[in-house]
Order: sequence, then C-alpha cells, then structure tokens
Amino acid sequence: MDKTEKPPEAKRTTAGPPSVSAYLDPNYWNERFSSEDHYEWLKDYSHFRHLIHQHIKPDSSVLELGCGSSQLCDELYKEGITKLTCIDLSLVAVEKMQKRLFSKGYKDIKVLQGDMLNLSFADESFDVVIEKGTMDVLFVDSGDPWDPSLDAVNRAMAMLRGVHRVLKPHGIFISIAFGQPHFRRPLFNAPEFTWSVDYITFGDGFHYFFYILRKGCKSLDAEVDVKKVETPSLCLFQDELDNEDYLFRTNIGEIDDDER
Ligand SMILES: C[S@@+](CC[C@H](N)C(=O)[O-])C[C@H]1O[C@@H](n2cnc3c(N)ncnc32)[C@H](O)[C@@H]1O
Repeated sequence: MDKTEKPPEAKRTTAGPPSVSAYLDPNYWNERFSSEDHYEWLKDYSHFRHLIHQHIKPDSSVLELGCGSSQLCDELYKEGITKLTCIDLSLVAVEKMQKRLFSKGYKDIKVLQGDMLNLSFADESFDVVIEKGTMDVLFVDSGDPWDPSLDAVNRAMAMLRGVHRVLKPHGIFISIAFGQPHFRRPLFNAPEFTWSVDYITFGDGFHYFFYILRKGCKSLDAEVDVKKVETPSLCLFQDELDNEDYLFRTNIGEIDDDER
C-alpha cells in the first residue's frame, strides 16, 4: 500500500471509526489529531487531582504514555511537577503538543514520538510512569474480556514490562482507566513484576479506576487477591461489555457532534 493511502479502517465517520481496531492504528490517531486540538479521554485532571498529589512529588521525574491532546502534563507542570516527558505514537499529536507547550512557555517538558510497547528509555529512568486511557486502547479488539486474545495480552505485557523496567526501584505506575480490576489484576500481578497493585475509583455515574502500582512492594498474597476478585456476577459482566464499547464510541461521538 502507498504510504500516503489511508487504510479503510482509518476513515472517520460521524459515529466514530468503523471498527474499534482503528484505535490501534497510528494512521487513525494522526488523522484525528490533525483536526483535534484538545480532548480529554475518561475525565480531566480536576477529577483525580487529589489522588495524583498523594503519589507524585514536585521533584518526581514523570513519563506520560500516550499523551494525545490531553492537558494532563500542562496541569502537572502548573502545579510544580516539571520533570515531565510525554510520548505518543502519533507524530501529529507530538508536534501539536510541542507547539502548544512551547507557546505556553513550558519549554522544559519533553514531548517525543514513541511506542509504549517498546520504550526506548534506559532502565530505572523515572520515579513515576502515568497513563490515562492509553492502556485501554490495547484491549479494543481483545474479544471476550475473560479470555482476551493472545495479541491483546502480548501487547499489554510488552507495555507493562517496559513500564516496570524504566521505573526506578521504588517508582510508581499510575494507570487511569476504565479497564476493570478483575481484568487488569491478572496482568498487573504477573509473577515477573515486583510491584504492589492497589486501586481506587472516581467519577460520578460510571466509575473510572485509578490504579497505583508500587515497584518493589509486591505483597506475598497478591495471587490470592486476584482469585478473590475474579468472580463477579454474570450481570456485571454484561454491563461492563456494554460500557466498554459505549465509552469508546461515545467519546468519539461527543467530539463529532459537539466540538466540531
Ligand atoms: C484514548 S487516547 C488517550 C489520550 C490521552 N492520554 C487522554 O487522556 O486524553 C490514546 C492515545 O494513545 C496513543 N497511543 C496508541 N497506541 C500507542 C502506543 N503503542 N504507544 C504510545 N502511544 C499510543 C494514541 O495516539 C492516543 O493519543
């Protein structure tokens, strides 16, 4: 295929991409960010600011994965957390973010094109790694969430291995997501990781999850915890499937209908 030619799944419709797998395609994000100046997935900073401040100190070095057009890094910077590096797979998102931060005078925030599945940073580089809505993207085509496809699991594990590697010995991974604990904890608690896994919910109506993974603090009963949370009712399972698809599609719909 010619490089300038768009694959069919990257074409936009007013209802969102024709297939959820487009969310895994950098062409989809490049096209989207070329006309989108600001959009916050899940919730904006004001909804979880109180949780952030419990875990990020002003002198923490922070890596944000999949920054998109979010203003999370602007908000952190304004509050004195200035050692920030943001990455995104989309070059369009990166260039727009660089321009925006430069125009605001936030010149010391680094914004780089990068793949969170193959992080290029040295081992133990950051005190904190944070992502909002980016890990969720890895599961859009995973099929049955109780038995996700091998591709989705491999993607998520590649991301988590990279995050674990670039965190300092007592570093923290903050994952702000709508992926529910009974689907995330088996991955977070893989034996190779040394972090503890906790979460708190936030949001009105639909609840989002604020996961806090502390490297080097894994508890001995982590595996027992996983089994305990893996038995929700059938009814809950159905609601979650509906929510997941609904959220990805309505986020796109809101932009098309209200912000364009
Ligand atoms: C759902 S959006 C979230 C954007 C932003 N974090 C927010 O909260 O508004 C997902 C973002 O992840 C980026 N992305 C997707 N796959 C990626 C990857 N493998 N590595 C880095 N960024 C990725 C997309 O370009 C997009 O900006």
